[in-house]
Amino acid sequence: GAPVEVDISDVKPGEMKVVEWRGKPVWILRRTPEMMASLQKNDDKVADPHSDKFYQLSMPEYCKNETRSRKEHPEVLVVVGICSHLGCSPSSRFTEGPQANLPDDWHGGFLCPCHGSTFDLAARVFKNKPAPTNLDVPPYQFLADNKLIIG
Ligand code: FES
Repeated sequence: GAPVEVDISDVKPGEMKVVEWRGKPVWILRRTPEMMASLQKNDDKVADPHSDKFYQLSMPEYCKNETRSRKEHPEVLVVVGICSHLGCSPSSRFTEGPQANLPDDWHGGFLCPCHGSTFDLAARVFKNKPAPTNLDVPPYQFLADNKLIIG
């Protein structure tokens, strides 16, 4: 598949845009400072805090960190929006705090409707739910502050 260029100038902090790449949905989330700060609170509750486990051989080097993003714009998360368990589509649950079907210490992220896997705001699998791995980060780079190329 061809690389996809994406203008993210319309994605405000706290908002997400979905684009298609190789037939898959790719989420582009511009995290707020509060969302970025929430990631530290999850480090001891996620299965693979720095995405460096052996089974993630295809994970780009630049996402093997807490925020799972490029240093130029760490607030911008780019992930394939397909659950690593059996391929359902997780939905966003950005509000902090106790909510139906979510752990009590929820700081925002994504919930998979199929078997209840939860992912934090870096798409790291949270609380070792059935999803085995963090969501995939596709190859991407910034062409300009508000322009990405995926693939
Ligand atoms: Fe997402 Fe099973 S497919 S939890």
